[in-house]
Amino acid sequence: MGKLEIEKSGHGIGADIQGLDLTKPLASDALAAINEAWAEHLVLRFHGTKLSDDQLMSFSQNFGPLDMRPVGKADQNSVPGNHYVTVISNVVENGRPIGGLGNLEAQWHVDMSYNPAPAVASILHAWAIPDRGGLTHFCNMYAALEGLPSRLRARIEGLSLKHDSAHTSVGGLRRGFEEAANAGEAPGAVHPLIRTHPVTQRQCLYLGRRQDAYIVGMALEDSEALLDEIWAAAVRPEYCWEHIWQLHDTVMWDNRCTLHRRDGFPNEQQRIMRRTQIGGDKVG
Ligand code: SIN
Repeated sequence: MGKLEIEKSGHGIGADIQGLDLTKPLASDALAAINEAWAEHLVLRFHGTKLSDDQLMSFSQNFGPLDMRPVGKADQNSVPGNHYVTVISNVVENGRPIGGLGNLEAQWHVDMSYNPAPAVASILHAWAIPDRGGLTHFCNMYAALEGLPSRLRARIEGLSLKHDSAHTSVGGLRRGFEEAANAGEAPGAVHPLIRTHPVTQRQCLYLGRRQDAYIVGMALEDSEALLDEIWAAAVRPEYCWEHIWQLHDTVMWDNRCTLHRRDGFPNEQQRIMRRTQIGGDKVG
């Protein structure tokens, strides 16, 4: 391996990895160094050249088996014949969106936390980026848990959260779902609000997204009030990093211990992202 350099973002989450060509197979010592940096920094960024879907999938498979792409609002986030690459884009070709989420702002979320075994990681690669907007923000959920006031932390020990599966991160209804009467009725998997990361063995908050989340067993108003309190304490600027995209950046994040969101951007600008997910594990 050539010299692999790791430069921290300086924001308590995120680091740049330099000195790697992601189009080539990874040597075992490089992979070990990336895994170590990933466990420490939670989000890794690689500047580089354009990756084909096959190259993105090959790189991603170093970190585990690929997960199937999620169901979009319509069947628009797919690459024909490929079940593993999700397209995130505002581009419309022949009257059909080529990807999901459009140019809209996406709220804080964890990818596919509404599944019983959510994807452990997502890897996002930029094929086209706008001149302004479209930044992706990440938040450290170890820090969020460690920073909770002790009385709040004591209140949420042992509680479980239902993660709504009906909506996308821009609030749209997924194909095949209907609006639920209230958050308590919304469909989705139930996971512990505090989880233990299987690699680092550290505890962190596991919030998914705010929309239609529900703390199991509580009256709806109590669940709403407690969730508002947790979110206000958890998502603080000092735990977060904003990533400004450069063309052909690849960013991988650990869905088990981070939240992410993205800014909207002008629709006349093109943004085309390809994303893979690493297959799920049970939340414990
Ligand atoms: C995502 O939520 O996975 C997409 C983030 C982005 O488009 O920057």
